[in-house]
Amino acid sequence: MCSISACIAALVLLPILCVSDDRLVPGKPLSPGTTIISDGGDFALGFFSPSNSTPEKLYLGIWYNKVPRLTVVWVANRAAPAISSSAPSLVVTNSSNLVLSDVNGRVLWKTNTTNNPASPSPLPLSNATGAVAVLMNTGNLVLRSPNGAMAWQSFDDPTDTLLPGMKIWRSYKTQDGSRLVSWSSPEDPSPGSFSFSGETHPVPQGFILNGSRPIWRSPVWTGYTVSSQYFQANTSIVVYMAFVDTVDEISMVFTVSDGAPHVRCVISVSGRFEVLVWNTESADWKLLTAWPSHECNRYGYCGTSGYCDFTDATPSCKCLDGFEPVDKGEWSSGRFSRGCRRKEPLRCGDGFLALPGVQVPDKFVRINNKNQEECAAECSGNCSCVANAYANLNSSVPCVDRRPAADRHPEDWCESLQHCWF
Ligand SMILES: *[C@@H]1O[C@H](CO)[C@@H](O)[C@H](O)[C@H]1NC(C)=O
Ligand SMILES: *[C@@H]1O[C@H](CO)[C@@H](O)[C@H](O)[C@H]1NC(C)=O
Ligand SMILES: *[C@@H]1O[C@H](CO)[C@@H](O)[C@H](O)[C@H]1NC(C)=O
Ligand SMILES: *[C@@H]1O[C@H](CO)[C@@H](O)[C@H](O)[C@H]1NC(C)=O
Ligand SMILES: *[C@@H]1O[C@H](CO)[C@@H](O)[C@H](O)[C@H]1NC(C)=O
Ligand SMILES: *[C@@H]1O[C@H](CO)[C@@H](O)[C@H](O)[C@H]1NC(C)=O
Ligand SMILES: *[C@@H]1O[C@H](CO)[C@@H](O)[C@H](O)[C@H]1NC(C)=O
Repeated sequence: MCSISACIAALVLLPILCVSDDRLVPGKPLSPGTTIISDGGDFALGFFSPSNSTPEKLYLGIWYNKVPRLTVVWVANRAAPAISSSAPSLVVTNSSNLVLSDVNGRVLWKTNTTNNPASPSPLPLSNATGAVAVLMNTGNLVLRSPNGAMAWQSFDDPTDTLLPGMKIWRSYKTQDGSRLVSWSSPEDPSPGSFSFSGETHPVPQGFILNGSRPIWRSPVWTGYTVSSQYFQANTSIVVYMAFVDTVDEISMVFTVSDGAPHVRCVISVSGRFEVLVWNTESADWKLLTAWPSHECNRYGYCGTSGYCDFTDATPSCKCLDGFEPVDKGEWSSGRFSRGCRRKEPLRCGDGFLALPGVQVPDKFVRINNKNQEECAAECSGNCSCVANAYANLNSSVPCVDRRPAADRHPEDWCESLQHCWF
């Protein structure tokens, strides 16, 4: 039997015809109006239709089963909607693939597993009955081949949402990785222009992009686990964000404290990375935090040699000490993109001014295998080097930054300060 709440959630979507299971097997297709419910009842897999679509467009997706406001966390055919009259269905094939096709045989989406994936933990032969796709209570749809090996999982193929336990990653060697891509609009799951991903060069860090343009950049992913605590009503919710840097790859994963309500991260249609928690009392998603947190925090917002000062009640753009706005009129009217320039020309051997607590600039040159003293000495010894920064990047090697050690993402820093690196 499908649970009452499952039926309520599905009613918002399509006429109800509940399927009782948490899994799909070959020969039992999933069609519009039927859903698969995870074992613990938290997630549902089925077809949904955004309102206002004529003819009605159907998408295969995963959503929260017990959240009364339809909240889709994963979409299979986001770029290829089905028309409801074309009777789409999802099948598990004998070759361990999931295929979404319509009555005309048009394939809207499929997994691309090969028939014999390496099996990390095969099930006993007695269990070898056939391929199976199981919707886990984490929101992960897991496809297993007959020998029990995982052939594919939806957590490896994200849409716009990061769920606890899901991973955003990038490989140092191949540069393969995963990313979140926003919906085009709240009613249109097709890929929008914003994405969130991790990059390995020159250092591990996260980016929000608008197309290929950065609009926000994270601090360096140093490889330490950061925990953040939030309070809602009388409950405390701890969101643990882990930024992991290994020899092979960088990744970001989050988990939440036991008993916490649903928490999800999403790259929104307006290009913000939002951490949201379900609030039962108000029956709504509440924002815990978002990146960028403030306009001033956007990539390149304060211009070259400018930085966003968060110590003020209202964060605002400032020039580095010894610098002044290129255009004072524009600066005072709130347009900062032209940045700042030196009041006096730099003389070789002037020395360095320490700027604690700032994010290092983007596009700097990374020099490995130096300690902090060697880094500063190397920079002082070269009149072309105007600044340095040091980070002990745990899994990798120490890093030297040749650029002015104050940042708020001067996008054109590299172009406008050609002399700052070796
Ligand atoms: C899939 O396997 C089942 C059971 O072995 C078999 O009955 C069925 O004909 C197979 N289907 C296809 C399309 O090969
Ligand atoms: C399967 O491969 C096709 C063609 O390379 C690709 O467009 C599609 O996104 C892949 N599907 C998945 C689920 O990765
Ligand atoms: C798989 O096999 C094990 C041991 O033989 C058994 O305990 C378990 O119930 C089986 N699982 C399924 C889904 O048949
Ligand atoms: C994203 O890029 C488009 C096209 O370049 C632009 O019109 C839009 O303002 C940008 N949005 C943001 C939030 O940067
Ligand atoms: C905390 O909130 C829950 C749910 O809102 C409520 O049932 C419980 O009584 C509250 N506990 C206290 C100590 O206020
Ligand atoms: C990275 O830091 C962790 C925690 O301090 C430590 O246990 C680990 O050995 C470090 N890894 C490397 C490669 O230095
Ligand atoms: C000094 O820096 C310049 C570029 O900024 C570089 O070309 C040059 O090799 C450096 N000199 C030394 C001795 O490292």
